Amino acid sequence: MSKKESIQRIYCGKVSQSELTKKIKLYGWVNTRRDHGGVIFIDLRDVTGICQLVFDSNLDKQLHNIANEVRTEFCLEVIGTIRNRTLDTINAKIPTGKFELVVEDITILNKSETLPFGLEAVALASEKTRLTYRYLDLRRPELQKNLILRSKVNQVVRNFLSAHNFHEIETPFLNKSTPEGARDYLVPSRLAKGDFYALPQSPQMFKQLLMVAGFDRYFQITKCFRDEDLRGNRQPEFTQIDLEMSFLNEDEIIDLTEKLMSSIFQAAKGIKLETPFNRITYQQAVENYGTDAPDLRFDLLLTDITDLVKEVEFKVFKDVTLKDTGLVNCILVPNGSDKLSRKDLDELTEFVKIYKAKGLAWAKVGEEDWHSPIAKFIAPNIKQAINKKAKAQPKDILLFVADDVKIVKASLGALRTVLAKKLDLINNDEFNFCWVTDFPLLEYDADEKRWQSVHHPFTKPHLSDLKKYKTADLSKIKSHAYDLTLNGVELGGGSLRIHDKKMQQEIFDIIGISDREANDKFSFLLNALEFGAPPHGGIALGLDRLLMSLTNANSIRDVIAFPKTQQAACLMSGAPNPADQKQIVELGLKFTK
Ligand code: AMO
Ligand code: AMP
Repeated sequence: MSKKESIQRIYCGKVSQSELTKKIKLYGWVNTRRDHGGVIFIDLRDVTGICQLVFDSNLDKQLHNIANEVRTEFCLEVIGTIRNRTLDTINAKIPTGKFELVVEDITILNKSETLPFGLEAVALASEKTRLTYRYLDLRRPELQKNLILRSKVNQVVRNFLSAHNFHEIETPFLNKSTPEGARDYLVPSRLAKGDFYALPQSPQMFKQLLMVAGFDRYFQITKCFRDEDLRGNRQPEFTQIDLEMSFLNEDEIIDLTEKLMSSIFQAAKGIKLETPFNRITYQQAVENYGTDAPDLRFDLLLTDITDLVKEVEFKVFKDVTLKDTGLVNCILVPNGSDKLSRKDLDELTEFVKIYKAKGLAWAKVGEEDWHSPIAKFIAPNIKQAINKKAKAQPKDILLFVADDVKIVKASLGALRTVLAKKLDLINNDEFNFCWVTDFPLLEYDADEKRWQSVHHPFTKPHLSDLKKYKTADLSKIKSHAYDLTLNGVELGGGSLRIHDKKMQQEIFDIIGISDREANDKFSFLLNALEFGAPPHGGIALGLDRLLMSLTNANSIRDVIAFPKTQQAACLMSGAPNPADQKQIVELGLKFTK
């Protein structure tokens, strides 16, 4: 080993008292360079942080000359001795701020062009530019911190699950479609022309088969692929922490998941989560919060007043009560008269229209009467009954939507969140977990005119419901499906599975999957259920969404190294792009215009 190689390498951000007066080596990128005439200071940055380098022309003219040539983002190797900074130059903002390296040897490992955007002044560069040069954007400490935390979470998950007797087993990407409700990404086969693989929307069927195989507990941190509309916290390829367990009941799976979340939050944030988490049923969630992923950090509950307004003069309310699926709900805003102006109310009215609501009626509650455009169309005793049911006090505001149940719940559910932000009701330091249980097994798809699984078709129904409602009202059959939500975001979902072939066939039957189609798509799973399949269930947690919560990121792209845009494109590599003509011919593909 040469003399230079034998010098200890320290990471820039790790320089500390124990390196004082020692000769060390640093590698990194030039974060900033400040020329003070005879002395040049360079902040050298690596993945751990920054260390200040000093080049003093009085000590070494030649080194000073090299430092003069160095520019931002050059990649350097430097050797020197760590000394204390003078008192007036200490930088209390960084951990190494008391020290600096007096450089004795420098090698420019690589030069750098001027970056297309400044790493500090990120706000100035558009996300488009930053995604195009993602490898440069990833030099920003903020993004590095997110990805390092992601790596740590992966490790915590592996350690926790291994300690709980889980086996990490990979499942294929090239296979048949997994029904999770999105569109598949297809991969054409060269060897079997005209045939396609579907990239997995989740490892669902494979993890169930691993239970049939007897592994007892499985996990995988794996990519899933879904060709769906990329609103908000969705990516076309995303990562699940995917679990499956045999012989456990719903409570046991929930309990184990809570312990896993606790160990993640302890390790990643030093936060001790309160367990057990809140639990509400799907029905309670939709009734009270208008959504199956309620944010429980604030109240603003929905109150159903449909029964109270059947006879009122206000036609908008009265008319919806005549329909089977019509509903009138309201949200109570405590002290709203002081907090919401007419302009605010107009804006909120526009907001609910996004969710197809036709309007937002409002009433300021007074000592005697409501102050409201609809006050004169509602009898005093009805107004009192509404006040009572919604627990309204003078000065509160009631906000009403009357419409079809779906529109009422979706619009007021979304309005809750907007109101909470506007009224500053959200504690951003709170992590409010909530399980939503007892999802309906099926929902009616009006477009396709058939019943569909709410989760996936392998979800186990409540057996008593299945008996009772399969010939009466399919929407009433509840299932052993549960979602984990955090601050109003769906973090994960899972269920107990059907492990009995007859029942699985019955469910396929109900959702209109013929024996032929079932055999064609799922014969391997159906067959497996005939060979002593154990009772089993599991859950998948969205790792990207979990990281968003842990890092307080606004965008899912901030916790993924190489994310895609809303158009499912990678701006850096240019994917997707046309294939070579040769490849297309080999695959036997032909395109229609
Ligand atoms: P589900 O479809 O609910 O369940 O997915 C589980 C979790 O994955 C995350 N997720 C996503 N994250 C980012 N982008 C997306 N496009 C995206 N889609 C889903 C969510 C979600 O809660 N096989 C079942 C699980 C099971 O039953 O065990 C499944 O995939 O956080
Ligand atoms: P209009 O009679 O259309 O002038 O509406 C009177 C008030 O009722 C306005 O404040 C509207 O925003 C509101 N409104 C209209 N349609 C609905 C609806 N479907 N649900 C709740 N409020 C509505």
